[in-house]
Amino acid sequence: MLTAEQNELLTRVGPGTPCGEMMRRYWQPIAAVSELTGPKWNKRVRLLGEDLVLYRDKQGRMGLITEQCPHRRASFAYGIPTDDGIRCPYHGWEFGHQGQCLSQPNEPEKSSFKTKVKTPAYSVEEMGGMFWAYMGPAESKPLLPRIDGFVTDGTIRMLGRTLIPVNWLQIMENSLDPIHTEWLHGHTYEFIKEQRGQSQKVAISTRHEKIAFREFEHGITKHRLLAGHSEDGDDWKIGHPVVFPNTLSVGNGDETSRYYAFQIRVPADDTHTLHLWYTAYVPPKGVKVAPELLDKVHVYDVCSSDLQRWN
Ligand code: FES
Repeated sequence: MLTAEQNELLTRVGPGTPCGEMMRRYWQPIAAVSELTGPKWNKRVRLLGEDLVLYRDKQGRMGLITEQCPHRRASFAYGIPTDDGIRCPYHGWEFGHQGQCLSQPNEPEKSSFKTKVKTPAYSVEEMGGMFWAYMGPAESKPLLPRIDGFVTDGTIRMLGRTLIPVNWLQIMENSLDPIHTEWLHGHTYEFIKEQRGQSQKVAISTRHEKIAFREFEHGITKHRLLAGHSEDGDDWKIGHPVVFPNTLSVGNGDETSRYYAFQIRVPADDTHTLHLWYTAYVPPKGVKVAPELLDKVHVYDVCSSDLQRWN
């Protein structure tokens, strides 16, 4: 059981907090590429306790900037894209992708005031049909984690998401609790169905004979052996990697057909977490799939009013 102090340490994610600074050293998925196509060129993002705006400039490059303009705090969600960044809707100050003020249309022509104005801005890169943000120090920026499920070509990609009013650790620790699947997703689910007169047995209610946890280079693998299953099965032999700090990775299949699945718990702030479930499915060889369905993330939101507000 965590103490109150340990809980604070691990769940406060704002700027300057130990956990927040740790989280800022990792790339976080913030939006689907398919959301920002055509006329839609920006969206609000709440990430690690900061209100931001993700945008595409007129050259097609992505930027991520603090939502409020440093001048009079107007919102860049109502801004204007430029060739090199974004312009504030209120007095037209323009900011580049590194947050530097580039122009102030109503200052005297020779004024150097713009060189003294800067606002927080962060790196954005694209992978697996999603935009990812890095908010840590530039000198510590790692490469995007090019895990095969995000970069395998010829896949059908789905992104589900919902915003949950809990801190990121409350969801993440669930990924290291194998037994709950047998009960919550198994017996409890069956009981609810039974009460509705819809008797339904689910495979996951099978008893766990053994569970185990093993540390590996990038986190912990979780292993389960269900009654009647072999120790040579993937669930026991390979397990499900919980990739530090906030991703559960699950997959299955072989050379003919396989899928990759990730559950990523992106801390929006101290008390809200954007829960993403991302699946990349490799269709069986010989099965024809319409080209427009491939390698593009199809988004479905399980809506909460907060999620709508941030969209
Ligand atoms: S509030 Fe943004 S330029 Fe004035």
